Amino acid sequence: MPEVAFDEASQTWLLSTPNTGYALRLGADGILRHLYWGPPLTIEQAAAVPVRAPVTLTNFEGRQHDIEELPVEGGARFGVPALQVRFADGTRGLELNYSRQSVEDGTLTVNFVDRHYPVEVALHYRVYGDCDVLERWTTVTNTGADDVIEVLRADSACWSVPDRPDYALRHVTGHWAGETVLERVGVARGETVFTSRRGTTGHHANPWVSIDAGDVSEEHGEVFSAALAWSGTWRLTVSRTSTDAVSVTGGTGHDGYGFRLEPGHSRQTPVFAGLRSTGGYGEASREWHRYALAHVLPHPDELRPVTYNSWEATGFTVDEEGQRELANLAAAVGVELFVMDDGWFGARVDDHAGLGDWTANPHRFPNGLRPLADEVHRLGMKFGIWVEPEMVNPDSDLYRAHPDWVQHFANRQRTEVRNQLVLNVARPDVAEWMFRWLDELVGANDIDFLKWDMNRPFTESGWPAEGAAGSDRLWLSYVDNLYDVIDRLRAKHPGLRIQSCSGGGGRVDFGILRRTDEVWPSDNTDALDRLRIQHGYAQVYPPLTMAAWVTDVPNQQTGRTVPLRFRFHVAMAGVLAIGGDLPEWTDEERAEAAGWVAQYKRIAPIVQHGELHRLLPPDRDGPGRDAMVASQYVSADGAQSVVFCWLQSPHFGRTVPAVRLRGLDPSARYRDEETGEVHHGAVLLGHGLLPQLPPGDYASAVVHLVRL
Ligand code: DGJ
Repeated sequence: MPEVAFDEASQTWLLSTPNTGYALRLGADGILRHLYWGPPLTIEQAAAVPVRAPVTLTNFEGRQHDIEELPVEGGARFGVPALQVRFADGTRGLELNYSRQSVEDGTLTVNFVDRHYPVEVALHYRVYGDCDVLERWTTVTNTGADDVIEVLRADSACWSVPDRPDYALRHVTGHWAGETVLERVGVARGETVFTSRRGTTGHHANPWVSIDAGDVSEEHGEVFSAALAWSGTWRLTVSRTSTDAVSVTGGTGHDGYGFRLEPGHSRQTPVFAGLRSTGGYGEASREWHRYALAHVLPHPDELRPVTYNSWEATGFTVDEEGQRELANLAAAVGVELFVMDDGWFGARVDDHAGLGDWTANPHRFPNGLRPLADEVHRLGMKFGIWVEPEMVNPDSDLYRAHPDWVQHFANRQRTEVRNQLVLNVARPDVAEWMFRWLDELVGANDIDFLKWDMNRPFTESGWPAEGAAGSDRLWLSYVDNLYDVIDRLRAKHPGLRIQSCSGGGGRVDFGILRRTDEVWPSDNTDALDRLRIQHGYAQVYPPLTMAAWVTDVPNQQTGRTVPLRFRFHVAMAGVLAIGGDLPEWTDEERAEAAGWVAQYKRIAPIVQHGELHRLLPPDRDGPGRDAMVASQYVSADGAQSVVFCWLQSPHFGRTVPAVRLRGLDPSARYRDEETGEVHHGAVLLGHGLLPQLPPGDYASAVVHLVRL
């Protein structure tokens, strides 16, 4: 079946993915309407689908714009405008006419031009033959020669959700050290806005939502979801009209910020991808993970190395001798990538000074970084380093030399957060400076990995030298330049791998994941809290990108003490790392750690490249069976599986329940790699696995099953 088909007579396009059909139709009035999003159809069937709502203009209701593919501002439309422009003569609104269509490499583009003004709008749809995620984005072009067009809002897409008897909405909420907490609510009649006004993706929300009919479970049901690939400010609006039409409109930028399109210039929005899936919330997540591996991540096939990070061990107290000691101990427990965190450069002995001065502190590293890098490599590990390229402390040589390089407004204070200001990365000279020192740092020291941090939101985001237009442009150009610097750096250093960090999980999205390899999901390393954070994170983003540290107890954020075994088992469900103060660990603890690291290396291909089944999610309703949480990963060929069980507290002397597994072959038998016990697939699927948990609180187990 062709991925993009067109029926001339009915002016219907059909986009086909392996399990989905998505159809749109051009009306006689020149408006492109959403027609269908459901199981696959033939083009003949799609052509026969009736439009969902009457295309009539009534006294007070206006057009049925809620089913337009990209509802623009203009005429009798009163819903969420996905595209708003203002022309030089003060006219607002668009009157678009269809102009042409093209199909190239699985991408349909439908172009429209304004009836009067020189503006062209292109709607893009990309389908893949191997997954059900559909990518959409929009291009706006000023085709004129004289006047600037003000683009007040340009969303990437509007996803119309098919009519259902009711609707439920899922999204993540949170804050610093408490990111990606999953929430499920009803869909209010009106508009529900999820947004970031902080310059970056944000800890408090993440640019994806899912909508279902309110009848969906982890394993069953139809889910519509959409995720925006952008790392700056953003807005997603879930609209439910008074007549129950539901849509999700999303794109870059927050309230009040647009951009100016010069004559002859275009702007292409980022991708706002949509997915319809039918196997419950679990299958929706697995399909987003497949999409990320097949079409987003730069190195999806690589196994992420077991990592050590110095931050919770040393804070800012970083020097060559201390890092060498940590590196030697890390190598002895089996670590593969050693990352030195904050505190190695300039006058950075705490968070008051030095940000922006990216040369090694001469007292802490008298011979530069090279000796440490060489030592780490000699130990057989890769060498990584922390950077925060977009920031500056006012107490730094960089700021003293270039006070105008930070975002600021005339006659306004420069608000400091964590004693730092945000560089105006939208400036070409700042972006170029950033690229040059990073290039030099990576090249001169043989650096394999950057932990790219970003520790505060934007405030006073002005660019006085460029006037009002520059200050508005800053929000988009900042992200454009950030992406460009990372892309250039990767191109010049193909072996370099990058972790996206923003005070934990403040920059997690498919935009940054297109050019980085993993994410630091939260500064909260408490194992119990991490179960919730990781649960929310992996709703859309794959475990292969989810870095997870084992740190010391009592935990620095929560004060909670949890056994080392439990801490390892939680971190082993993502990309395992150690962040504890290894010299303070006992010989027994380091030996235990070496055992878990060795086991992780055996199961890493299944955890990182397998399929995730949330057997007992941490947020399920009701009393649960002593609140046990369980996840299972199944290798792509089904030959191996890993099951994690975590029980915070047993109650009333009850025994733990059997956990029914998924994704196995009922006719096969599976051997437990640790105990040698052999299980029938049919029993594991139909009855369940009885996890062998140690007694007491924070009991956990990991079971590695191999098909015989
Ligand atoms: C915030 C990060 O999330 C931490 O892991 C650590 O790198 C600090 N910044 C260092 O300042």
